[in-house]
Amino acid sequence: MDKVQKIMELKKEKDVVIMAHYYVDGQVQALADHVGDSFALSKLATTVTNKNILFCGVKFMGESAKILNPQKTVIMPDITADCPMAHMVEVEKIKQVRKMFPDVAVVCYVNSTAEIKSYSDVCVTSSNAIKVVKALPNKDIFFIPDNNLAQYVAKQVPEKHFIFNDGFCPIHKEITKQHILDAKGKHPGAPVLTHPECIQEVLEVSDFIGSTSEIIDFATKSDEKEFLIATETGVFYELQQKNPDKVFYSVKGDQICPDMKKITLDNVLAALENFEPEVIMEEDMIEKANAPLVQMLELAK
Ligand code: 13P
Ligand code: SF4
Repeated sequence: MDKVQKIMELKKEKDVVIMAHYYVDGQVQALADHVGDSFALSKLATTVTNKNILFCGVKFMGESAKILNPQKTVIMPDITADCPMAHMVEVEKIKQVRKMFPDVAVVCYVNSTAEIKSYSDVCVTSSNAIKVVKALPNKDIFFIPDNNLAQYVAKQVPEKHFIFNDGFCPIHKEITKQHILDAKGKHPGAPVLTHPECIQEVLEVSDFIGSTSEIIDFATKSDEKEFLIATETGVFYELQQKNPDKVFYSVKGDQICPDMKKITLDNVLAALENFEPEVIMEEDMIEKANAPLVQMLELAK
């Protein structure tokens, strides 16, 4: 029996739903029950009926699934797959900002640790951040940890006062305006579809800005035949699945998140066989980090 067959049998036998982010390897996306962006996967996590979740992505995603489903067992193929940006803000900084701006809303991108979520008022993802921030009654917004997404949201919601943090995604930050201009020169007319974790200069020369799901939807609905993609190359799998007649070019050849690529068929199989590594969190932490996630699901409706 090959690996994929074994995975299929084990997940059925052990009542496991496999969820995967668009940035994991295409082979893993192909066998998942649900593939999505961070928001879609968080929403789905609240509705799946299986007893157990196998989350193919980075640690904060597995943690969010656990926080939203404390009664379920959440396992991850590689628990060391972590998002560096998730650690780019400290609790002390949140406390300082709260002192300086007593009416501030601490808006936390889901790419964050459970501890940081537990000190925040509401979570956001790249696909709902504008909507959620607009829906908040607060004028002062402390947006953590990503500076680039914060700058993008601040431009769309000029009526609010933003306090910025200096976190970033190392993979998206590497994409420069020159990469985009060079790619446009090679493929004139192809629209540039960009993730808002990119720097502002890059967003300014892009034709569409959106989360991974939004980029895929835009390309799928578009009449264009060629596209330039400014995000992690994992999205190419779904782009190509949905659009076999269209051509996608990455604006910079190596837009690869090494943590997302730690998820392989081998460790998916091993996780199902051994039922580990499991996402283990203190009850108290789950409770505290749950509130901002639930608030996000509510405001993003
Ligand atoms: P989205 O899934 O919201 O597009 O976010 C991308 C990302 O960086 C996930 O780590
Ligand atoms: Fe984190 Fe960037 Fe990797 Fe997403 S692509 S998990 S933001 S390092």
